[in-house]
Amino acid sequence: MKATNYLLLAAITLPIVLTSCRGQTSEKPPIHPNMNMDQQERFDPQERNEFFADNRAMRQPVEGTVARGKLKDDKALYYGINEDSSYVQEIPVDLTKSFIYRGKDQYDVFCTPCHGGTGAGNGIIMENNYGYVPAPSFHSDRLRNQADGYLYSVISDGIRNMPAYGKQIGVKDRWAIVAYVRALQRSQNATEEQLRSYDVDIAALQDEFEQQMADAQAEEPAAEDGGEVSVERGKTISTENACGACHSTDGSSMVGPTWQNLYGSERPLEDGSTVIADEDYLHESIVEPSAKVAEGYPPSMVPYDHLSESEINSLIEYIKSLSDQEPPEGNMEPEPSNNVSAQETSDTATDESPIAKESK
Ligand code: HEC
Ligand code: HEC
Repeated sequence: MKATNYLLLAAITLPIVLTSCRGQTSEKPPIHPNMNMDQQERFDPQERNEFFADNRAMRQPVEGTVARGKLKDDKALYYGINEDSSYVQEIPVDLTKSFIYRGKDQYDVFCTPCHGGTGAGNGIIMENNYGYVPAPSFHSDRLRNQADGYLYSVISDGIRNMPAYGKQIGVKDRWAIVAYVRALQRSQNATEEQLRSYDVDIAALQDEFEQQMADAQAEEPAAEDGGEVSVERGKTISTENACGACHSTDGSSMVGPTWQNLYGSERPLEDGSTVIADEDYLHESIVEPSAKVAEGYPPSMVPYDHLSESEINSLIEYIKSLSDQEPPEGNMEPEPSNNVSAQETSDTATDESPIAKESK
């Protein structure tokens, strides 16, 4: 052959050779220079495996295996039923005040939108004509007479048009909600006789409350510059600001840590460090709660930095009064404030300080 023929042949075959690898399947594994453990011996999910008698590669757990933390043999607690599958009559959890408050908290989150704050079935969803099936009132004889376990199962599994909340609300919290629903039912169905038996002078309570409010109002102007600092005032301010919605004074943990024996104690913080709960720490916790977050609690407290200094100090005095401890270091003297005013008087013009003005 002539050289030009060879060239012609090459010109025709080369493109064929270069493009011929595309679109073909091959039984052979692709060329894979660096294996990197990409291919290994293994069984894929659902694959056949002759080794086992049932030919399944995926093995069943040994009979009776229970995943850690998933043992739910307490039927009363987890399902609200007795051994014979009837509903338990009573909540199988110890009832405490903070447990019922927890129930209120969770009820307000999950149930109020439909059932309303008092359980009358007039939640915001129902009012605004969104077309939702009406939620019933809890204040019917039928629902008052249902077993506690029944209410628990309604929350856990839903009922007819009501969705299930078992996935979103923990077991204890579901029982806490049941307890609170019971409290709501009693609150809306008390006879005059029952009310009398409580031996509470409602008129006197109302007077006391109004007096407290009036006192607080009267104190307000003084609060701006150096109002009175006292335990009593701290208690009132705590009530007015609903600190008690999240902080107990009896040692029980609510949304936030209890105030009982808080002052002077060693507080573990979220970042793993600890701090002594002295006055400075309490002060910071009130005006800038996110600065040091107590371990095990959400950073959900809003700063109360709109309170005046004397209001904050009164709160601190109140919290101190709930503790029989003292911080180990003697850093509770009000030294710093003296220093500050001394500085102020030397650094700034004397007549700018309101205290100085008064004393002239
Ligand atoms: C999205 C709205 C909605 C929410 C949220 C909701 N419910 Fe309901 N609930 C309903 C409706 C609607 C019904 C009536 C269902 C039906 O009869 O079809 C109902 C029925 C009930 C009943 C009566 C069951 C019966 O025997 O008739 C109870 C008790 C109840 N809910 C408790 C709760 C509790 C406790 C919560 C909070 C954990 C809650 N519900 C949250 C809508 C709601
Ligand atoms: C909405 C709930 C909520 C309210 C209301 C609330 N707090 Fe708190 N508070 C918390 C939580 C949660 C923590 C713990 C997390 C943190 O340290 O920020 C906390 C922490 C504190 C601490 C530090 C406690 C510790 O153990 O370290 C003090 C002091 C405190 N709050 C005072 C107050 C005062 C005073 C008020 C009322 C003026 C108030 N809180 C209102 C939720 C609340």
